[in-house]
Amino acid sequence: MKTLQPGNLPVHLAVIMDGNGRWAKKRMLRRIVGHQKGVETVRVIVEECSRLGIGYLTLFAFSAENWLRPKTEVKALMALLKQYIRAEVPRMMQNDIRFNVIGNRADLPEDVNREIDAAIAKTSANRGMLLTLALSYGARQEMVSAVKHLAGEVAAGRLDAEAIDENLFGRSLFTADIPDPDLLIRTSGEMRISNFLLWQLAYTELYFTDVNWPDFDRDELAKAFRSYHARERRFGRTSEQLKSEF
Ligand code: IPE
Ligand code: IPE
Ligand code: MG
Repeated sequence: MKTLQPGNLPVHLAVIMDGNGRWAKKRMLRRIVGHQKGVETVRVIVEECSRLGIGYLTLFAFSAENWLRPKTEVKALMALLKQYIRAEVPRMMQNDIRFNVIGNRADLPEDVNREIDAAIAKTSANRGMLLTLALSYGARQEMVSAVKHLAGEVAAGRLDAEAIDENLFGRSLFTADIPDPDLLIRTSGEMRISNFLLWQLAYTELYFTDVNWPDFDRDELAKAFRSYHARERRFGRTSEQLKSEF
């Protein structure tokens, strides 16, 4: 029952990196400049989380719904993504980081997918933090695919419908081998989930900050961790029960 202990750093930190566009707009810059600046924040936060011994860092970088943005912005984001992955692999190797992607990869441009495959292959033997980028990711789509997969198994006679439980369902999601997030950070003042990890966030602590992602830094991360540290995760039990268990 390790996850019941309050106070430790999160094992799995998930982040909705939001506010790049508004950061740029405030400075009369183009939105893409905000995204470029956001990539610098990604570097800083990835490195800091790895240094602190965070086990899993999952970053929402592009949602299934973000394809609805203007073509020019989508194109620029894909180019930036490719550039980021290529440039980061050496640093991932230095920091023993394993790279991973969740989401509908079939929607991504071929050159981005090639870069992703190369980064996954190159870092696969690393044993430090697992860095997961959520790309073309939507939680509802993820759950519908899981249901389709399980229904197919039942129809083919390989699975008894009665055997479907929370564990098996969870194992049918992209995050099969990843524990549920302990802490979710969303930047830029928006207080919504925007179709991110709906199943996995069931008991995650939520932290919202008004800071836009390009301005998020180590100090802001420390603030979020301090807030997490002060919380009591009860998972349905009473406070008194938790105290008598430890
Ligand atoms: C987050 O910043 C990055 C992506 C969603 C790709 P936004 O681009 O959503 O920035 P705002 O919300 O418009 O300020
Ligand atoms: C969520 O941010 C997706 C990412 C951070 C990648 P959005 O900016 O797309 O979310 P909404 O549309 O404001 O909910
Ligand atoms: Mg946004």
